Amino acid sequence: YVIGIDLGTSAVKTVLLSKEGNIVCEQAQPYPLSRPEAGWSEQNPEDWVQQTLSSLCQLMETSNVNPEDVEGISFSGQMHGLVLIDANGRVIRPAILWNDTRTTEQCRRIEKTLGDKLLTIACNRALEGFTLPKLLWVKEHEPELLEQASLFLLPKDFLRYRLTGNLAMDYSDAAGTLLLDVRNKCWSSEIAEAFDLPMSLCPTLVEAFEQTGTLLPTVAEFTKLLPETKVFAGGADNACGAIGAGILSEGKTMCSIGTSGVILSYEQRKELKLDGRVHFFNHGEQDAFYTMGVTLAAGHSLTWFKETFAKDLSFDELLQDIHLIPAGSGGILFTPYISGERTPHPDADIRGSLIGLDAGHTLSHAARAVLEGITFSLRESLEIMRQSGKEITEIVAIGGGSLNETWLQMQADIFEAPVVKLENEQGPAMGAAMLAAYGCGWFSSLRACAEAFIRPARVYSPNPQQVEEYQGLFSLYQQVYGLTYELN
Ligand code: XUL
Repeated sequence: YVIGIDLGTSAVKTVLLSKEGNIVCEQAQPYPLSRPEAGWSEQNPEDWVQQTLSSLCQLMETSNVNPEDVEGISFSGQMHGLVLIDANGRVIRPAILWNDTRTTEQCRRIEKTLGDKLLTIACNRALEGFTLPKLLWVKEHEPELLEQASLFLLPKDFLRYRLTGNLAMDYSDAAGTLLLDVRNKCWSSEIAEAFDLPMSLCPTLVEAFEQTGTLLPTVAEFTKLLPETKVFAGGADNACGAIGAGILSEGKTMCSIGTSGVILSYEQRKELKLDGRVHFFNHGEQDAFYTMGVTLAAGHSLTWFKETFAKDLSFDELLQDIHLIPAGSGGILFTPYISGERTPHPDADIRGSLIGLDAGHTLSHAARAVLEGITFSLRESLEIMRQSGKEITEIVAIGGGSLNETWLQMQADIFEAPVVKLENEQGPAMGAAMLAAYGCGWFSSLRACAEAFIRPARVYSPNPQQVEEYQGLFSLYQQVYGLTYELN
């Protein structure tokens, strides 16, 4: 067996994966998130450690497997969060998370200071969620704390440090800091120096599948695992989600719909010309990359709609008749900008719209329109990827967006590509476990591991008539942003 640990934003999930590729047991433990001021989002890194330890204990107890049969452990982690530690490995301040928006001013300064170099070196634009703006915020507002810091880590790297004593960061997560030279896979002294940050703050870089140590004796004793259990670095949650969905060859793309929505496409073209509209990060596989676009309120839009207009219904009840409504929802168009947007409009202020309402419309019409609007927004990310010359051959749907048949067909029709639903989808935890399986030598490559472990359940092919219908609507949808820009 191997164990995958997914350090999420609301909980840590641990899974036990067998050599046959089956998740034989899973466990989750929650932890709080604090918002001490508007726009702030913080967590106590000690909570991650305690809850992971207790989750591992329960995983071992419930599964009843022999600790000797657990060969390796690896991680998937929420990206971008800043953890500062001192020379004794103690946490200096609460972690500042990916969804913290206090750093708008720092982002502007990064863009201004680095200009085109930001895209050439870090391959991404400065966004509030990323790590460098957070480091600059601490430098400005809490200089005495930054002075105490000997290293910065990302969430899952801190957790791994506490389980093994080893300090390192993998490339897929480091890519989300804005301090990594993404194509050359090294820390950028040019970026660090531009902001007067000592390079000594940056940890050693490793591959996501590289072994970084074994379990500390105290951790082994507590969890009933053996101290010689191999621990592998692990990767960013999006990279791990992609590995767990088999996005490991050209053309393969993932559509993950949870609270937010992600379109992620495997990329081997290192010299791809970037304009910053989609992210470009290192993958968990050696020398591979992925491009990624984000819809901020994907599942969140549907939850908002249900809570506001159909509080007493379950999601299944709300969506049970949408297959009876034709494509286009009888003329209703929805844009999912209820909490701003990231791709293709990095705009925190834009707000959504629900237009084209008719007295004859029902709740089902509007519910279908909400799903269409979310899917149109994700299509915008695909459009950017296609414009870069990428051929999208297959889209693997994961998360809440893969649970409804009508929505899956709608994705195929709006994306104009076959959409695959998996048999046993486990999200980023599966990718984390696969990194351990590959690291332990079960397979000659991650791709071979994916071929053995990931099983498609059904493929939804685009329906030509619906595709045509949606093409017209998509161009209308694209105009709504510009027309509603001044509304807020
Ligand atoms: C990616 C991002 C989120 C976090 C969530 O850029 O901000 O997907 O990784 O954990």
